[in-house]
Amino acid sequence: MADVQKTLVLIKPDAVQRERVGEVLSRFERKGLKIVAMKLIHLDETVLADHYHHHVDKPFYKGLVEFMMQTPVVGIVFEGVGAIDEVRKVNGATNPLEADAGTVRADFSMSVAGNIVHASDSLENAQEEIKRFFKEEEVFSYDKLTDQYHLG
Ligand code: RTP
Ligand code: MG
Repeated sequence: MADVQKTLVLIKPDAVQRERVGEVLSRFERKGLKIVAMKLIHLDETVLADHYHHHVDKPFYKGLVEFMMQTPVVGIVFEGVGAIDEVRKVNGATNPLEADAGTVRADFSMSVAGNIVHASDSLENAQEEIKRFFKEEEVFSYDKLTDQYHLG
């Protein structure tokens, strides 16, 4: 069985603008991922330059940064068995037109520029991204009655 992992999700400004935050959050919750941290974050250019450092030279970078600053985003840390890959499965492919039906991106969006969610893509990046957006004391550790179903 895979290890219990933590991963970072950002529910992006298009979901906030389109009033889909609750529905998106509920996709992860119903899967069985545990919310261990959550808050609104208004991103700025400095933190986005860090977060998207691998995209700095891409033609879409400027538009991506402007988009990510449109509204606050919802930052969430989820915990669960193999959480990094499981969250990315729930999200679907980066391009919503290529994402499988039933995934967040396929079901809620039509464009790569407005693809609703961000999620960490590796253990190393998850640890770095959680630290980027949350203080240590903002990430909680607690038992839930349903752990017996999700951690077995
Ligand atoms: P994310 O980081 O948001 O979870 O998405 P991802 O791993 O599936 O995709 P990534 O390659 O890391 O891209 C990050 C975000 O940049 C925007 N993007 N736009 N216009 C384009 O061709 C393009 N390509 C990427 C998307 O918002 C993507 O989620
Ligand atoms: Mg990515």
